[in-house]
Amino acid sequence: MRVLLLGGTWFLGKAVAADALARGWAVTTFTRGCSGPPPAGAVAVTGDRTSRRDLAALAEHGRWDAVVDTSASELAPRDVLAGARLLEPLAGTYVYVSTVNVYRGWPNEPLEDHSELLEAPADADADFGRLPPGWTGPDWYYGRQKAGAERAVRHAFGDGRSVILRPGVILGPDEYVGRLPWWLARAARGGTILGPGTPDRRIQPADVRDVASFALDRASAAEGGSFNITALGDETFGDFLNACVEVTGGRGVVEWVPDRLLLDAGVKQWTELPLWRTSAGVWAVDSSAARAAGLSTRPIRETVLDTWGWMESGGRPVAHPRWDEHGISPDVEAGLLTAARLASTQAGRASGG
Ligand SMILES: NC(=O)c1ccc[n+]([C@@H]2O[C@H](COP(=O)([O-])OP(=O)(O)OC[C@H]3O[C@@H](n4cnc5c(N)ncnc54)[C@H](OP(=O)(O)O)[C@@H]3O)[C@@H](O)[C@H]2O)c1
Repeated sequence: MRVLLLGGTWFLGKAVAADALARGWAVTTFTRGCSGPPPAGAVAVTGDRTSRRDLAALAEHGRWDAVVDTSASELAPRDVLAGARLLEPLAGTYVYVSTVNVYRGWPNEPLEDHSELLEAPADADADFGRLPPGWTGPDWYYGRQKAGAERAVRHAFGDGRSVILRPGVILGPDEYVGRLPWWLARAARGGTILGPGTPDRRIQPADVRDVASFALDRASAAEGGSFNITALGDETFGDFLNACVEVTGGRGVVEWVPDRLLLDAGVKQWTELPLWRTSAGVWAVDSSAARAAGLSTRPIRETVLDTWGWMESGGRPVAHPRWDEHGISPDVEAGLLTAARLASTQAGRASGG
C-alpha cells in the first residue's frame, strides 16, 4: 500500500505513521515542519495545506492508494475541499478524521452513526459558525467546521471512496491536550485524590493506537463509510483512576466528590477535572458500525500504563496552549474535598445517621 498522511508528526498522525510503517507500507507525510520531525522511513514533503502551490508540489509525489487526513483539526472546510479536489485523481480512498462534535446532539444525547449532523457547506471559510458576541447557546463552531470538512471530502471523493471517522476523546502516548497526563501527574503526587462524581460512571476514551489501526484498516479496505470511534463503555471512571493510581506506584487514595458539589463550586467540566463531564450523551456514543468493520479497543489500563511510560521517559510534546488549561491546584482540590466531607457529615446528621 502507498499511503499519504496529511499530518504524521503529531499524536494521532504520529501513531498512524508508525502503524503504517510497521505494516510495511510506503508512507508519504505532508506537514509544515512545525510540530515535530517526520517519522524515519517516510518520504516527508514539507508544505502548508492552505497553500495551493504547496499542494501542487505535493501532488507530484503521487499516486497513492489512500490518503489519511489527521491534520485538519483547525482547517476550514474550503481548504480541505481544495486539497481533496487536487488529490482526487491521485488517490483511491480518502480517510478523514472528523469528530463526534459534528453531531447536533453531542454531548447532550446518546449518539449513533446516523444521528443528525450539524449543517455546514463544503466550501465554508474559517468564520463559518463563529459565535456572535454574548452568545449563550451551544458552542457548535468546531463541530460545524468539521461537518463542513466531512462534506468537502465527500464532495471530492464521492461516498464510495470517502471514509469518515468520528472519534470521541482520544488518549494515549503523545497526548498533547493534557487530559490523561494531568491525571497521571496527580496520581503520582499521591495523597487523597479527588474523584469527580461517582466511580461507576461509564467512560469511552479510545486509545490513539486503536484509532490509528482502524484508520489504516479502512484505508486498505477501499470502501466508503462513516464510523463513530469510541471504546465500548464497559469501563468506568473508577477503573480509569484506579489504573492511574496503580501504574504510578499506588501512592494515592481516591475520594469521590458528588457532581452537585463540584457544579455548585463552579469547577469547569472537561478541563479543570479532565474528562469529567455530566452531560448525558458524552459517554453514550454507539460505535457498532466500526466494531462490525473490525474496530478493537484495548482496556483503559493499557492506555494509562503506556502513557505513564511515555511521561516517565520525558514525554511531553512541544508547549501547547491547551496543556495548561487542564487541572486544578492542590489547594482547590483540598478545599473541595473538605467541603464534600462536611456536606456528607451534615447529610448524615440530618438523616439521623
Ligand atoms: N485529540 C482528540 O481527542 C481528538 C478527538 C476527536 C477527533 N480528533 C481529530 O483527530 C485529528 C488528529 O488530531 P491531532 O490532534 O492528532 O492532530 P492535529 O492538531 O489535527 O494536526 C497536527 C498535525 O497536522 C500538521 N498540520 C497542521 N496544520 C497544517 C497545515 N496547515 N498544513 C500542513 N500540515 C499541518 C502538523 O504538522 P505541522 O505543525 O508541522 O504542520 C501535525 O503533524 C484531528 O482532525 C482532530 O480533529 C482529535
